[in-house]
Amino acid sequence: MIVEDMTIQKNECIALNTFEMVISGEEIPLHIQSGQFVHIQIGDGKLNMLRRPLSIADINRISQTITLIYHVTGDGTKWLSTLTEGTILNVLGPLGNGFEIKHSEGNQILVVGGGVGVPPLYHLTKQLVRHYQVTVVLGFATREAVFYEDEFRELTKTYISTDDGTYGHKGFVTDVVSQLDLNFQHYYACGPMPMLQAVQEQMIDTPGQLSFEERMGCGIGACFACVCEAKNDNGYVKICQDGPVLQASEVIL
Ligand code: FES
Repeated sequence: MIVEDMTIQKNECIALNTFEMVISGEEIPLHIQSGQFVHIQIGDGKLNMLRRPLSIADINRISQTITLIYHVTGDGTKWLSTLTEGTILNVLGPLGNGFEIKHSEGNQILVVGGGVGVPPLYHLTKQLVRHYQVTVVLGFATREAVFYEDEFRELTKTYISTDDGTYGHKGFVTDVVSQLDLNFQHYYACGPMPMLQAVQEQMIDTPGQLSFEERMGCGIGACFACVCEAKNDNGYVKICQDGPVLQASEVIL
């Protein structure tokens, strides 16, 4: 695990209450993997808040940058959204276990994301399309909340749904998935818990990996703020330490 001062290269609003931040550094961009996350210190310690866990939307090892997408939901992320290019952020990472990407050549893979769960799927999809047939289904609350549609479409076939029907398919991602006439060998999903539950149930016969955007405390396995019921000897897993990516067959949602 590395603690590094990283420099903001870009921090801009890309959708409703949604910001894209690119930060550069010497170490973390070289070591982080798809599905892992970083913990960002908020307010230089002055706000006396916990670090914020943010998932990685993209990694560029040449420019030594990582891209974070975050939703402004409280004082901490509001503070983050005010920061400008050149600001130094204290970053802890890489944290957690990322996605496993090993399938048979040519397999059909489904990628499903909902709202705040969409970002970690972007870098994953970039890697998957090199070897597999990938279909992406992304769900958002409303039209103004949609982001990264073009970025995903440049990679592969992408479907969008909105809860209120103001853009794309009206309804849930599972409605779109049920209309796809495809036989998937594996799936990946990241999003709010109700979405993960619905996708897990819908894809019950297909191996899959779920990434949890669970609210975290310490981020390093010490506080038990992030536990999820699981089919192991302990009866639970810690999202921050055992996840955030877990096999769908391991967890009880
Ligand atoms: Fe503390 Fe997971 S956030 S144990």
